[in-house]
Amino acid sequence: MTSEAPTDLAIEVRGLVKRYRGGRGQDELSAVRGIDLGVRRGEVFGFLGPNGAGKTTTVRMLCTLLPITEGHATVAGVDVGRDPAEVRRRIGVALQEVGLDARQSGRELLELQCGLYRIADPAARSAELLRLVGLEDAADRLIGTYSGGMKRRLDLATALVHEPQVLFLDEPTTGLDPASRLTVWQEVRRINALGTTVFLTTQYLEEADQLCDRLAIIDDGTIVAQGTPDELKSELGSDVLTIGLDPVEHDRARDALLTLAGLDHVTDAAEGLAVYVDDAAGAVADVVRLLGDAGIRPGAIALSRPSLDDVFLASTGRRIEGGVPEMAS
Ligand SMILES: Nc1ncnc2c1ncn2[C@@H]1O[C@H](COP(=O)(O)OP(=O)(O)O)[C@@H](O)[C@H]1O
Ligand SMILES: [Mg+2]
Repeated sequence: MTSEAPTDLAIEVRGLVKRYRGGRGQDELSAVRGIDLGVRRGEVFGFLGPNGAGKTTTVRMLCTLLPITEGHATVAGVDVGRDPAEVRRRIGVALQEVGLDARQSGRELLELQCGLYRIADPAARSAELLRLVGLEDAADRLIGTYSGGMKRRLDLATALVHEPQVLFLDEPTTGLDPASRLTVWQEVRRINALGTTVFLTTQYLEEADQLCDRLAIIDDGTIVAQGTPDELKSELGSDVLTIGLDPVEHDRARDALLTLAGLDHVTDAAEGLAVYVDDAAGAVADVVRLLGDAGIRPGAIALSRPSLDDVFLASTGRRIEGGVPEMAS
């Protein structure tokens, strides 16, 4: 892992707070309650949380679109409060509600954006971006004819016109069907591979798990966990090996497994024993050997790992909403 020196961080946030003034007769609402974040250069960082958690509010503050109530944020090496114009020059932003003009073609929109940013050769830059997000074939069709996924990818391209160091994506795949979601993931990976740091919000566990190098889980304006998907899951403790066994062999099998390396504990399971162990995949061979030495032949052995949903549950006491159970990875 890289060091935590400030120069390695694309985004650094300390004690960030947002309070919205209440309407008439309403109390103030603390949407973000003092969060700390460190996003390293070159990574895809996920901000995972349910609806209303404070994701959009945080992104808008980091993008200089919303005043910071308290705390401190640096983006691409620039202090957000002190020099918002310079931050805007260094970032690209694709926000949740996209306002693409349906009566333009994708190419026309991109060339217009290039003009706004005074890019030297708008036609060449637009063609390059259309290739990057896989919209070459649709480049000259009206945006009104694009699918939801194509619009999101065009939105990605417009955010990249001025080669930002950091790209902010607010729920880039919400509302997309699973196939379009996979395509957007591919484009995000491709953009990231070219060196752009990506900060994306999501309410999809699968998206955080598959796409993000590291993530923070936010709930009710507070970060409840932060790390790589694997770190977060392994903080929950052991993997689980479920071993099918003849009921009469449970006790002997339990004894035989007591010397298993990395063993946490063993409990009864529906069809046999559940063995909680540091590294289930690495333990399978030893389990079979130890049982074999005791003259026991196990049935099916199943391996399971904690999911990010288990992490969210452990951190908040609730399951996250908006998961995509139908989605295969
Ligand atoms: N402009 C606003 N004025 C008052 N409250 C707001 C405003 N925008 C968002 N909120 C509230 O702040 C909280 C966080 O919202 P938001 O940042 O949009 O969450 P998320 O993007 O995670 O769904 C919610 O309770 C929301 O109702
Ligand atoms: Mg939001």
